[in-house]
Amino acid sequence: MIEKGVRIEKPRGKLGVLLVGLGAVSTTFIAGIEAVKRGLALPVGSLSQFGTVRLGKRTEGRSPKISDFVPLAQLEDLEFASWDVFEDDAYTAAVKAGVLEMSLLDQLRPVLEDVRPYPAVFDNRYVKRLDGTHVQEGRTKWDLAHQLMDQIRSFQREKKVDRMVMVWCGSTEVFLEQGPVHEDVPALEEGLKNNDPEIPSSMIYAYAALKLGIPYANGAPNLTVDAPAFQQLALDEGVPVCGKDFKTGQTLMKTIVAPGLKARLLGLSGWFSTNILGNRDGEVLDDPGSFRTKEESKLSVLEYILQPEHYPDLYGDFYHKVRINYYPPRRDDKEGWDNLDIFGWLGYPMQIKIDFLCKDSILAAPIVLDLVLFLDLAKRAGMSGIQEWLSFYFKSPMTLPELYPEHDLFIQLMKLKNTLRYMRGEEQITHLGLDYYES
Ligand SMILES: NC(=O)c1ccc[n+]([C@@H]2O[C@H](COP(=O)([O-])OP(=O)(O)OC[C@H]3O[C@@H](n4cnc5c(N)ncnc54)[C@H](O)[C@@H]3O)[C@@H](O)[C@H]2O)c1
Repeated sequence: MIEKGVRIEKPRGKLGVLLVGLGAVSTTFIAGIEAVKRGLALPVGSLSQFGTVRLGKRTEGRSPKISDFVPLAQLEDLEFASWDVFEDDAYTAAVKAGVLEMSLLDQLRPVLEDVRPYPAVFDNRYVKRLDGTHVQEGRTKWDLAHQLMDQIRSFQREKKVDRMVMVWCGSTEVFLEQGPVHEDVPALEEGLKNNDPEIPSSMIYAYAALKLGIPYANGAPNLTVDAPAFQQLALDEGVPVCGKDFKTGQTLMKTIVAPGLKARLLGLSGWFSTNILGNRDGEVLDDPGSFRTKEESKLSVLEYILQPEHYPDLYGDFYHKVRINYYPPRRDDKEGWDNLDIFGWLGYPMQIKIDFLCKDSILAAPIVLDLVLFLDLAKRAGMSGIQEWLSFYFKSPMTLPELYPEHDLFIQLMKLKNTLRYMRGEEQITHLGLDYYES
């Protein structure tokens, strides 16, 4: 047992939230925070706001709220900055995203209109289905990174912000393999100066954030901070990072259902997943390059949870397919269908159908909030590099190369809560419980 836990600085002053991309997720998040602050709605789905953590033995009756257990920033202390290729302020962007009702948005209109995006660092080669005019000019990617740093510093001065966290809520970029330019920090910096095509816009933002000591969360499946150069930079600068690809909708369901099937050792012969969605994200994902990035992120989940190498008779040969179709009438109201062909005792087949009529951004917004608050906590606790304890929030959790990612939602939650216990010097909970029965 750790006696005293980790030294955590108090969250003094304001926390700046730097949102790259002011689309459906970002605006639903910002409007949500403003609504909660005014008592208009509840932050449902947020562990940092609703979650509790059991401490000690069950007989002790200690289960404080997470927000009372670890020193988190308050919602009142959040200030927002954003970048987008469209000039729309957060009110206009939220109206266009069509997630939240006008009656709510109109009550928040003045505060949302105040959130105006900086011009984006953007190159259409990396997001083919998007064209915007609100874009920064720069001779090199190195210059663009420094322009971003200047903007971040001026936001910090203007809003008198004490600390910051950056979250990538921008579009999914085309699939990129890790190459020599991502190997280490000198190669990356050289590449920024030489406009290396293997450095997409997301990496320019991430470089700017990490150089300024700002924690970074990757909400999309882009390579970005997965690359070794960024992990080195995060450690050098003492910055926590996490990613990637918010776990909402269908993958959330997968990581809830698959651990249950595995727990009961029911076999799987096929899992077919298809989605329709009609928001801008859906349009971007209609491009094969961007879809490939997403597909990689969505497919790996089952392999890791079901561990076919340990259970060849049950999971050695299942067929897994994921499809996303852009269907404009649905806007942000995604529909995800899953058909599972499973088998039980003596190999007898059964089927499970899941039809999840979900609202993507409604599921993503509380994730953004938790990541902002937990990354800020991690930074104040002196943690740096990959924050595996935040795997709970991602479709493709980041780990060291020699580790496999943990996808099971329930193990992820245990890991997260145990990390909080560790930070506060509380005993880890093993669920052994034999001692209750010893006389
Ligand atoms: N909504 C979800 O549940 C969910 C789940 C997992 C991942 N994601 C990912 O989160 C991201 C945001 O999703 P969304 O639904 O808000 O999408 P969106 O299309 O509504 O918003 C993305 C915004 O990013 C902007 N953008 C693109 N490239 C940019 C750049 N280089 N700099 C600044 N702005 C840029 C776009 O103009 C757009 O306004 C997407 O990558 C999506 O794949 C979303």
